[in-house]
Amino acid sequence: MATRRMVLIQSLRTAAAAAALHACRPLEMFAGERRQSNAAPGQTSPHAPDEMTVNSAPQPQHYPQPDFGPPPATLPPEAKAVSGRHSLAAHARRHGLVAGAAVVVRVLEGDPVLQQLAAEQYGMLVPEAELKWRALRPAQDRFDFTASDTLLAYTAAHHMQLRGHTLVWHNSVPDWLSENAAHLDVRQLLTDHITTVCAHYAGKVHSWDVVNEAIFPQDGQPNGLRKSFWYEHAGPDYIDLAFRTARAADPHALLTYNDYGVEYDNADQSERRRLVLELLRGLKSRGVPLDAVGIQSHIKAGSPDTIGKGLTDFMEGVRQMGLQIFLTEMDVNEDDLAFDDIARRDGAIAKTYADYLQIALANPAVKAMLTWGISDRRTWLNDGPTHHRKQPNRPQRSLPFDAAYRPAPAFFAIRDAFDRRT
Ligand code: G3I
Repeated sequence: MATRRMVLIQSLRTAAAAAALHACRPLEMFAGERRQSNAAPGQTSPHAPDEMTVNSAPQPQHYPQPDFGPPPATLPPEAKAVSGRHSLAAHARRHGLVAGAAVVVRVLEGDPVLQQLAAEQYGMLVPEAELKWRALRPAQDRFDFTASDTLLAYTAAHHMQLRGHTLVWHNSVPDWLSENAAHLDVRQLLTDHITTVCAHYAGKVHSWDVVNEAIFPQDGQPNGLRKSFWYEHAGPDYIDLAFRTARAADPHALLTYNDYGVEYDNADQSERRRLVLELLRGLKSRGVPLDAVGIQSHIKAGSPDTIGKGLTDFMEGVRQMGLQIFLTEMDVNEDDLAFDDIARRDGAIAKTYADYLQIALANPAVKAMLTWGISDRRTWLNDGPTHHRKQPNRPQRSLPFDAAYRPAPAFFAIRDAFDRRT
């Protein structure tokens, strides 16, 4: 089976695809390179953005991923035991949900066992970066759909759905664009980009994160809008423009506003929730096409803050606007856990999943739940400076499958949470 799938993926490589993929630098090539942070650990520089942005900002050099050795040659028996009707996909389906995960296409492509695991466990995939501007637009006059087309072919071959992420994000602006913005018609470029990308995938994607992370009250702009490249160069109404353009190019995809920092019961996130709801209400009142809200769900184990009423009320507010909800990027950052024992850490991570999903899945508007990665072999939480600040030498165990593709306690917590859904 694994061999058959590998053959499939390999056969998807057209000559053009192979050329583009071979141009990618493998992650190992970044080992040993380390970018110096401008701020001391625990401090933020005057212009330091939030954790999400720090970690996902385009980095000249990657933090090295931990070396887990080569991926497993076969699916371990523990993973086989939770396949078929025991899988996340099957349990989710029985409770009105789609279970999904984010993948790095190059990683999936090079790992036939991961391909098998993904096809067994999920009903939906989303590329971590391959549909963003920086990946799709190597130059102003070029679109490179090689990697995302490969993923579309893979999901279609396995009867999975594909999510699109993301058409507008402050953190994925190609250099050719940011460096020449003063001489370019950015508004027109945004419109053309969305039209081309949405048309390319029209009728083939489940949903698009049309705009990602547009709220950032620290920037002091009206309505809490982030003073992003798009806000400044395409105009403060760029969100309306993006959604309208996406709908025109693909009438079938569910158009989603996606954001983070709305999960916890604290003052900052309470304000962010208020601002997101205000943004959504504004979009609806202006007749802007909008179908869903993505709650990223990057949460932490061992956090002093709790998750409860704030999230519940927020989700209910979204539901009452007639919108669907997707949990789009869930993972559990375990950097705050002060102990090293793996069983204890896994228990704390699983409980964090369970507690969160008990609250989040209670709302019937939730239709999909995706984790931001499949296995601890590949998680953005090991990429950057912020998320292993306290435990720099300890790879995160944040995802449903461990680095050997065995289901972790988190897997069972997620599956149980699906089952508890009425
Ligand atoms: O494969 C490319 C290669 O073509 C390129 O030359 C090379 C050098 O940059 O790196 C490889 O691309 C990297 C890509 O991940 C795939 O591994 C990018 O540099 C790197 O910036 C990119 O990071 C992603 C980041 O967003 C920025 O796009 C992370 O994987 C991804 O997990 C992260 O995801 C974000 C969500 O979009 C929004 N919410 C927060 C989340 C975590 O930051």
